[in-house]
Amino acid sequence: MKIIGISASARKNKSTHFLLDQCLNESKRAAELLEKSLEVELIDIAPMKINACIACGKCKKGVLCSQEDDFQPLISKLADPELVGIIMATPVYMGCMSAQAKAFLDRTVLFRRNGFMFKNKLGGVIAVGGSRNGGQELTIQAVHAAMMIHDMIIVGDGGHFGGAAWGSHPNGYEGDETGINTAKSLGKRMTEVACMLHH
Ligand SMILES: Cc1cc2nc3c(=O)[nH]c(=O)nc-3n(C[C@H](O)[C@H](O)[C@H](O)COP(=O)(O)O)c2cc1C
Repeated sequence: MKIIGISASARKNKSTHFLLDQCLNESKRAAELLEKSLEVELIDIAPMKINACIACGKCKKGVLCSQEDDFQPLISKLADPELVGIIMATPVYMGCMSAQAKAFLDRTVLFRRNGFMFKNKLGGVIAVGGSRNGGQELTIQAVHAAMMIHDMIIVGDGGHFGGAAWGSHPNGYEGDETGINTAKSLGKRMTEVACMLHH
């Protein structure tokens, strides 16, 4: 079993990356407690060049994309049959997901067009805003919508929407205990549900 986390901030190694790392570490810890083998991988797309989908239609002919950018090497990673879940982490930009997150999600249409390859994979979301209530839940739901278009199974943090964090917490994002706990709970739930489905 493998869970991939996508950090879709414009900035490397900042709050979005931190929260996703906390989440994936908790997924791993939960798997160890359940004595299950789980691989996790954090992919930070901040330094990558991922263009918007240009709707050329090449992916209607196979698991292919016409654009030679940094999405290309991600295709085989995301097509890995061991993959059981994807966690998207995005900053809140203007009340919704980052352009990086949207470009990434749009480009994943190729998996839908080739037999719904993400069907029944788990989907979890983390949103980090500069304000405590800056649109995190709306952002999470917007990413959930794309996951539903893939026929994925949405996982929350055990009662709420997922990871909702405050990047500009007075103690820094590393001090946003409430937000960190939502990200950790999401990671734990991802593992619990993955283990229920793949035992
Ligand atoms: C273009 C832009 C728009 C933003 N819009 C919002 C917003 O609507 N709500 C909010 O809470 N924070 C907003 N922020 C703040 C970021 O969400 C916040 O700083 C976040 O922690 C950044 O993630 P990072 O540390 O991974 O870069 C915005 C930041 C930028 C650059």
